[in-house]
Amino acid sequence: MALLITNGRIVTSTDDYVADIYCEDQQITAIGSNLSVAGDVETIDAGGKLVFPGFIDPHVHIYLPFMGTYAKDDYETASKAALVGGTTTLIEMCCPSRGDDPLEAYQLWKSKAEGRAACDYSFHMGVTRFDSQTEVQLRQIVADGTASFKIFLAYQGALGIDDTELFQTLQLARQLGVIVTAHCENETLVAQLQAQLLAAGQTGPEYHQPSRPPRVEAEGVHHLMSFAELTGAHVYIVHTSCDEAVQAALAARYRGVPVWIETVAPHLVLDRTYAEKPDFEGAKYVMSPPLREARHQPILWDALRWRLISTVATDHAPFDFQGQKEMGRDDFTLIPNGIPSVEDRVNLLYTYGVEQNRIDLNTLVDAASTQAAKIFGLYPRKGTIQLGSDADLVVYDPDYRGKISAATQQMNVDYSAFEGWQISGRPSVVTVRGQVQARDGQFVGTLGRGQFLRRQPTHF
Ligand code: URP
Ligand code: ZN
Ligand code: ZN
Repeated sequence: MALLITNGRIVTSTDDYVADIYCEDQQITAIGSNLSVAGDVETIDAGGKLVFPGFIDPHVHIYLPFMGTYAKDDYETASKAALVGGTTTLIEMCCPSRGDDPLEAYQLWKSKAEGRAACDYSFHMGVTRFDSQTEVQLRQIVADGTASFKIFLAYQGALGIDDTELFQTLQLARQLGVIVTAHCENETLVAQLQAQLLAAGQTGPEYHQPSRPPRVEAEGVHHLMSFAELTGAHVYIVHTSCDEAVQAALAARYRGVPVWIETVAPHLVLDRTYAEKPDFEGAKYVMSPPLREARHQPILWDALRWRLISTVATDHAPFDFQGQKEMGRDDFTLIPNGIPSVEDRVNLLYTYGVEQNRIDLNTLVDAASTQAAKIFGLYPRKGTIQLGSDADLVVYDPDYRGKISAATQQMNVDYSAFEGWQISGRPSVVTVRGQVQARDGQFVGTLGRGQFLRRQPTHF
C-alpha cells in the first residue's frame, strides 16, 4: 500500500522544512505541499511532529559469542528494539574467533538475520586473523556486499590481531576500497594494568576504568593512525570515549590520514561513577573503552557539534546482570563487556543533545543517520529524505514525555543502564521501505521484513 505523511517538519542533515512525503513501491516518490493522491493510501498526519530519515546504527552486536558467554539479543528482539527507538538500519559486527573459518563465520552471522530481522541490516566483517586463506575469503565477502572490515587492537588472545596482520589487513582494504573500522586500545598496556590491579586485590567493576585509562585508548588510536598513514587505508575509529583519543585521531586527520570518528551513546551521557556503583551494580556499566570521567563528555558533544566526530552509534552489546555480568563478581576482567542501548540512542540524543542545546537537529540526523550512510556506502538509498531514497522514515513526537525502563523495553536484557531517565520525545511512527513497523513504543510490523543491504566499496 502507498503511504502519505502529511504536514511534517522534515529534518535532514542539511534541511528543515514543512512538506508532505509520498511513498510508493518502498521508496519516496514525491515531496511537496498539499500532495493529492488517489487510491489505496495509508495517511499519517505528522502535523506538529518532526520527520527524520530512518536512523542507522553502524555499530551493534547481536550474535556475539564473547568472554565465555553470548550477548542476549537475537535479530527479532534487537530489530524490534531498534525500530521502536527509530533505528531502521543496523550494521552488525561479525566477530569470528581467531580459529574460525572467516567465510563460514560470515555465513553463520548472516543466517542469524535472514528471515528474522524486522529492519534492514548489513555487516562489518571482523578480521581476527590474517593469512592467505583469510585474504581469499575476505575478497569473497566484499564481493558479497560486505564492504567494510572490523579489527580489534584489544582483547589479546581472543579477537585481537598482531601488527603484521594489521598491516596486511589495511593493505588489502586499501586495494579493495573498503574502510576498516577499529577498536583502538593498546592490549599490552591493558593486560599489564589488569594484572597489577588484580594482584593488589582491586577486583571490583570500579577498577575496569583504571585498567584502560584514556592514554591506553589514545595509544591505540595513534598506533592505528601510523599504520593507516603508511598503507593509505581509510579507517573509522569505533566507540571513541575521550579527549585524548579524539585528539590523536584529529592530529592524524590534520596530516592527511583518511580517518572518521565514531562515539557511542553511553560515552556521551554516562560517566565512570556509574561503574563505581556499590554492590557490584557497577558491572552493568562495564564496557570497553570504559566510561570516563565526566570532563570528557562536553568535549565529545563539542566535537560532535563541529562534526569532527562523524557518527553516534551504540556498540549495543547486551549481557544480563544476573548470570552474565555476575561472572566477574570476583574479578572485573571476567565481566562481559557491553552496555545495551540500541533502543535508546535516538531518544537520548534528542533529549540530552538537542533539548539541552548541545547539538542541533540537523547534526542529530547527520550523526545518527546520514554520515553512517555516506561512510559505509548506503547513501542516498539510506540516510536522507529525497526522491528515490528508501521510505525509511521516523515521525518523531517532540511533545512526548516518558521514562526509560527495563520493564518496558524491547531489548532482551534484564536491566537498563538508563533506568528511570526522563526522555522528551520519541518516535510515534517508524517505517521500513514504506511499511509501518513501529508505533508509539510498540512493534506493530512484520518480522523478516528486514533486507540484507549489499554495499559496494567506496573508499578508493
Ligand atoms: O564493551 C564493549 N565494547 N563490548 C562489545 C565488544 C566491543 O569491543 O565492541
Ligand atoms: Zn570494541
Ligand atoms: Zn563493539
